[in-house]
Amino acid sequence: MMRPMKLAGSELMFGVNSLSYIKSIKAKKVSIVIGGNSMEKNGILAKVEQYFREAGAETMVIRGVEPDPSFATVMRGTKEMLAFGPDLIVGLGGGSAMDAAKAMWIFYEHPELKRMEDILPPNEFPKLRSKARLCCIPSTSGTASEVSRSIVISDSESGVKQGLGNMEMMPDIAICDPEVTLSMPAKITAETGMDALTHALEALASTRANYLSDVLAVQAVQDILEALPVAYQDGTDKEAREKMLLASMLAGMAFTNVSLGIVHSMAHTIGGFFHIAHGLADAILLPYVIRFNQQDARAARIYQKISEKVGVKDIASKVKELNQQLGIPENFSNLIDKTEFMKRLDEMAEMAKNDGCTKTNPIIPNMEEWKQLFIKAYEGE
Ligand SMILES: [Fe+2]
Repeated sequence: MMRPMKLAGSELMFGVNSLSYIKSIKAKKVSIVIGGNSMEKNGILAKVEQYFREAGAETMVIRGVEPDPSFATVMRGTKEMLAFGPDLIVGLGGGSAMDAAKAMWIFYEHPELKRMEDILPPNEFPKLRSKARLCCIPSTSGTASEVSRSIVISDSESGVKQGLGNMEMMPDIAICDPEVTLSMPAKITAETGMDALTHALEALASTRANYLSDVLAVQAVQDILEALPVAYQDGTDKEAREKMLLASMLAGMAFTNVSLGIVHSMAHTIGGFFHIAHGLADAILLPYVIRFNQQDARAARIYQKISEKVGVKDIASKVKELNQQLGIPENFSNLIDKTEFMKRLDEMAEMAKNDGCTKTNPIIPNMEEWKQLFIKAYEGE
C-alpha cells in the first residue's frame, strides 16, 4: 500500500519577491541559521532580518555551519537557541544550513536528548513544535531541504554521515525566492543542480514511485535539463535561476515522499569517507547507476520513457554530456587517492548497503556488485 503524501508544510511560497512574505509571518523571536558568509555578503541576511523586524520580531543569527554540518555544530547552535528562546527557527542557505537548523530545532525542543543516536531508530522520533516552528529559505537549487523531511548530519569525530528522515521535520514554512540564489557561484550551481536532477531521476525509478511523484519528477527533469546549463553559464539569468529553484523544489517533493536510490547511498558513503561534495558525488555516480539499474525491466522502461519525454536517445548519456558541460569529471580518479579508495571498498560496500536510500532502488546490488559499481565510478567505463 502507498504511503501518505505530504508535499510541504503549512505555508509554501515561491517565485520572485516571495521573500517579502516574511513580513506576514507571526513570530516574536527568530533564530536564523546560516552557513558561511555568502548570505551576509549578498545582503540577503540583512533583508531577511529587516522583514522580520518589520513584522515586529526580534532576530539573532547562528553563524558558521560548515559544508557537511557536524553534530558538534548542531549542539553549539542548540545552546545558542536555548539561551535565546526562539518561537521561529529559520534555515537560510544551502542544504547544510537548512539541515543544521532542522537538527538544532530537534535538540532545542528536547534538551533532554544529548546524542544523535537519541533520535535515530530504534528510538522514537520526538514530537516537535512545542516551542518553535521552522522556516527554510534555500540559497541553492538542489537539496530541497525546504520541502523535505530529512537531514544529513556528520559525526563530529569520524565525519561519517548520518541520514535521518521523519515527516515531523517537514519545515512549516518554505520560501523559494530566486533572488536568494542569484549570487551562487557556477561550481555550486552545477553541483547542487545535479543533486536536484539525481533526486528527480531516483524518485522516478524508486520502487515506491507513484502517479503524483512521477508528475513532479518528470517536470523537474525537463526543467533542469533546460535551465541548468543556462544558470551555470550566466548566474544572473533570473529566468533560469527561478526555473532551477522550482525544479529543485518539485524534485524534493517527489523524493521526500517516495525516497531515492543507490546514487544517494553511494554519494553519502563517498562523501563521508573522502569529503566529496554531495552534488558532485551524485553527478559522477548518476550515469553509472542508471546503467546498472537498466538491467531491471521496469527501470529500463522508466528511463526509456523519460528519455523520450525530454527528446534524447538515452538519459544516461545525456547526464554524462551535461556533466561535461558543467565541468564535472567523469569519475573520481582525480578527486580521491586510488590506494585509499580501493583499500576501503569493503567498508564502502557495507555502508552503502545499509544506507536508507538503498531499499527503494530498482535493484539491490549484492556485495560484489556494490564493489564493482564503486570501482567503475572510480576508474570510468
Ligand atoms: Fe541529494
